[in-house]
Amino acid sequence: MPVAKISALGCYVPPRVLTNSDLEKMVDTNNAWIMQRVGIAERHIAAPEVATSDMAVEAARAALAQRGVDASELDAIIVCTVTPDMFFPSTACLVQERIGAKGAWGFDLIAACSGFIYGLTTAAHFVMAGTHKKVLVIGADTMSRIIDYTDRNTCILFGDAAGAMLIEPGEEGEGFIGFLNEIDGSGADALKMPAGGSRLPSSVETVQQRLHYVKQEGQQVYKFAVTKMYETCKALLDRHGLTPADVKLLIPHQANKRIIESTAERLGMSLEQVIINIDHYGNTTGATIPLATRDAVRCGKLKRGDLVLFAAVGAGFTVGANLWRWAY
Ligand SMILES: CC(C)(COP(=O)(O)OP(=O)(O)OC[C@H]1O[C@@H](n2cnc3c(N)ncnc32)[C@H](O)[C@@H]1OP(=O)(O)O)[C@@H](O)C(=O)NCCC(=O)NCCS
Repeated sequence: MPVAKISALGCYVPPRVLTNSDLEKMVDTNNAWIMQRVGIAERHIAAPEVATSDMAVEAARAALAQRGVDASELDAIIVCTVTPDMFFPSTACLVQERIGAKGAWGFDLIAACSGFIYGLTTAAHFVMAGTHKKVLVIGADTMSRIIDYTDRNTCILFGDAAGAMLIEPGEEGEGFIGFLNEIDGSGADALKMPAGGSRLPSSVETVQQRLHYVKQEGQQVYKFAVTKMYETCKALLDRHGLTPADVKLLIPHQANKRIIESTAERLGMSLEQVIINIDHYGNTTGATIPLATRDAVRCGKLKRGDLVLFAAVGAGFTVGANLWRWAY
């Protein structure tokens, strides 16, 4: 069976920065609370004319340029997002046209903050099946479009960004090792955007009731996430006969610094083995994993041959973890 490796990575972060002091002027919050409870100092916000596909295209182009691959060589594009430009056509179609990926098929994947890990898992299996040679996985979210900036419980948490990874056949001993993904719909009400779908179609009432924004039971999500992040990482490592000490780097979804620190502590990993960049970007949903990976590569923490563990929990609930041996 062919091996699947991550061969390139590209990201896009919009230039506008929204700081905690900006938020202090919008809602009843303060920098000390946000830093202590979540660990976010600033997040980036897309310009009004920029949609998710625009950021996805930038990230895709950056990844392809890094590897010197032409978009026409792509076999498939998977866009992991909860903020598509529109319900349909899919963001994958819009990206395919813009980058000129004439030979690719593709689709959008909805798994919220676990989306990128589900996308990586899917792409790895396409490549390992031998049916695909080049699959582009993009995590892109314009969370600012579905955030209620009058709700202090949620508006401090999220930012906008996109990231892309190219998955290709690799050599024995590098690339994809395994995954552990789960969904648990009993948590569906804990984090959701209630209106705009077939259950509660858009109406004057849904807009007036602010139902097109993210609603979150923060403590319920926190409790689930803090338990599941640890359990999933541990179970995946156990499955492959590995221990946390074997892992060079844990690259977790960036939702709350305390969740990340607790996961590392329970795994017995030092913070040197973990990437935390939530302070600069907030929770960018589908984009946190590629963005954190980019920062890991940039600061020299992730090198060829290193064992990397990706992990996330998201709305749904969705849970996912992947083990890869970094290949470039
Ligand atoms: C959202 C979250 C940061 C809130 O932190 P928390 O410690 O659970 O805080 P609570 O919701 O218990 O609120 C504690 C108090 O702070 C207040 N508070 C909430 N947001 C605030 C803010 N932005 N600024 C100041 N105070 C705030 C609450 O109103 C509450 O006040 P009260 O005690 O007077 O009622 C935290 O629950 C969390 O990170 N949850 C998981 C989020 C997550 O992972 N989401 C994405 C999944 S992918």
